[in-house]
Amino acid sequence: MPLPDGFQWGVATAAYQIEGAVAEDGRGPSTWDVFAHTPGRVRDGQTGDVACDHYHRWPEDVALMAGLGVDAYRFSVAWPRVQPTGTGPANAAGLDFYDRLVDGLLERGISPAATLYHWDLPQPLEDAGGWMNRDTAHRFAEYAGLVAERLGDRVDTWITLNEPVVVMAYGYAFGIYAPGRALMLDALPTAHHQLLGHGLAVAALRGHGADRIGITNHYSPAIPADDDSAEAAGAFDALMNRLFTDPVLTGAYPDLGGLPTDFVQTGDLDVIAAPVDFLGVNYYQPTWLAKPAADSPLPFDMVDAPGDLPVTGMGWPIVPEQFLGLLRGLRDRYGTALPPIVVTENGASFADEPGPDGTVDDADRIAFLDGHIRAMRTAIEEGIDVRGYFAWSLLDNFEWAEGYEPRFGLVHVDYPTQRRTPKRSYAWYRDLIAASRA
Ligand code: FCB
Repeated sequence: MPLPDGFQWGVATAAYQIEGAVAEDGRGPSTWDVFAHTPGRVRDGQTGDVACDHYHRWPEDVALMAGLGVDAYRFSVAWPRVQPTGTGPANAAGLDFYDRLVDGLLERGISPAATLYHWDLPQPLEDAGGWMNRDTAHRFAEYAGLVAERLGDRVDTWITLNEPVVVMAYGYAFGIYAPGRALMLDALPTAHHQLLGHGLAVAALRGHGADRIGITNHYSPAIPADDDSAEAAGAFDALMNRLFTDPVLTGAYPDLGGLPTDFVQTGDLDVIAAPVDFLGVNYYQPTWLAKPAADSPLPFDMVDAPGDLPVTGMGWPIVPEQFLGLLRGLRDRYGTALPPIVVTENGASFADEPGPDGTVDDADRIAFLDGHIRAMRTAIEEGIDVRGYFAWSLLDNFEWAEGYEPRFGLVHVDYPTQRRTPKRSYAWYRDLIAASRA
């Protein structure tokens, strides 16, 4: 069955993971700069100071995208380049970088898909409470307007937030990502304030004529580890999946088991439920859940996947059927309220290194992508409206608290020399894209 008209194949990246140049052209510090420079937070003390040096090497990277034949490129705009302190007028030099990038993409016929927030909050906003502070939502909408004012005439697709669940859970609840706060369930307001920021940003973007706006959520299907764990799996699904989708698509929060929601003010849910043009779906792996211990601060316990499943280089279980299940589940749960889906991230890390002849033979990544793209195509055949697929990632890059060890790229990066080597998966993806158009 052919793909729907206008289906986009793409690749995705994020600013802090690839750009480097953290102090150039007036960029201010983000929570990730501060976190990565705090001893013990990131593996081997690694930081995004240089990363893939994409800030300077972007023409080479755009040429790599052109070689793949992608329709679209999902990148993120670094808020601290645009507003170094998180408020105030735009820093023109910071926006100039994205201006050049967008023009470079368009010259190659690649459609720009800009994510406004991929976790790099300006540190001064964090110092004022970060996403625990409702005002951050208003700051985010102001920033969104500044970016749209400059790039709105050329950016085709806007994504407000990337994976707000990870910011809430890893950043504010468990303390393993920036800003490193361990508030457990008291982190809940960060979900609401991000969603409010999303809704306010949608309005700001519409004000600049944007007509293709979405939010990207991270989905991890919840699997009960045993007969006793259905309730724990349901609690995980509510807090980690539905919490970020129900309000946007249905204007209501899921049942949160009696957790306080006094931070929700009258009218907020109307703002959050402003129509979006697509739902961005990131999928990597399901999660197995068990009943928590009596003294656990959480209503679930995340446990190991069954030992017989294949895993990626980071130990993430490889289960493409769960990706299909996720797409079906979204259709079943949201019905006519579900906008078209765009798969904004999917991919795998493996310990790829060039062989003696210089090539990187990443057969395991090809198998991963093949399995998941097949699952997506089955969903499309079943009538689920999927309009795009973005592989994570174009390049090996800074994988947050895991530093540079995991390699997710279709292109290998030798960090000491910054040499880019397309892996075998790059040629495979290029051929798949070409074949899907034939
Ligand atoms: C996602 C993130 C992305 C990348 C992949 C592996 O959760 O959005 O930045 O780190 O995981």
